Amino acid sequence: MRDALMERPAAGAEPHRDDPVIELSGARKTYRSGDIEFEALRGVDLSITEGEYVAIMGPSGSGKSTLMNALGCLDTLTSGSYRLDGEDVEDLDDDQLAEIRNRKIGFVFQQFHLLPELTARQNVALPLMYGRVPLQERQERAAAALEKVGLGDRLDNRPGELSGGQQQRVAVARALVTEPTMLLADEPTGNLDTVSTADVLALFDELHATGRTIVLITHEHEVGRRAQRIIRVRDGVIDTDTVSTDTREVRVR
Ligand SMILES: Nc1ncnc2c1ncn2[C@@H]1O[C@H](COP(=O)(O)OP(=O)(O)O)[C@@H](O)[C@H]1O
Ligand SMILES: [Mg+2]
Repeated sequence: MRDALMERPAAGAEPHRDDPVIELSGARKTYRSGDIEFEALRGVDLSITEGEYVAIMGPSGSGKSTLMNALGCLDTLTSGSYRLDGEDVEDLDDDQLAEIRNRKIGFVFQQFHLLPELTARQNVALPLMYGRVPLQERQERAAAALEKVGLGDRLDNRPGELSGGQQQRVAVARALVTEPTMLLADEPTGNLDTVSTADVLALFDELHATGRTIVLITHEHEVGRRAQRIIRVRDGVIDTDTVSTDTREVRVR
């Protein structure tokens, strides 16, 4: 098996932008309830490289959440293979999946899932509790992550004192504080008004510009078109006819 760590560029070197972070091959997912089976993913091949900003789009019921759960190591495939950042994921048990999730993926959801009684900084520091990071370092890293998302002056505010867009920024800071391999966002603007949506999308643009790998799931065209590449899902397969590269801008790598 390929050792992902060995292939990491040395500190200061240019990242290998064409290393696949996600390699999904022949991915199938069958749900069973009683005698009824439903095949929600019917053979999906997908490759996403480091630093890419990809939107996964498709109508309701097409399999977006099923795909996101597989990519996020929240659920296993029925068959097919999934390699995340050089590690084979498809045969891992629940504990191993939880471990790889914590290490490699920063999640952002439609509902911000912030704890209302904690400050922004305390919310962002939470994922570091599981990694046995000392308190002082947790607080410093949380403050740095909040600065990165433009909320350096809101460290001690509670979620209720922040706008929707600011709360989602806190959630993005929390997703990034562990330095994950990729940011996986499921309908991150689904609960936001237009101003806050613009705010969060501007943040994603910035993160992409600084080399973050972002996978964004959305059914909103205006949101999806901000990504570099749109992947369309329909009836559990990738609709190859409509996979398109964004023509809005071509980023020089
Ligand atoms: N736990 C489940 N059991 C049975 N069927 C499911 C389950 N989850 C999703 N499905 C079905 O799989 C299909 C894809 O669902 P989903 O991935 O949630 O689509 P989307 O997120 O694009 O709306 C739908 O037809 C849905 O009804
Ligand atoms: Mg869904």
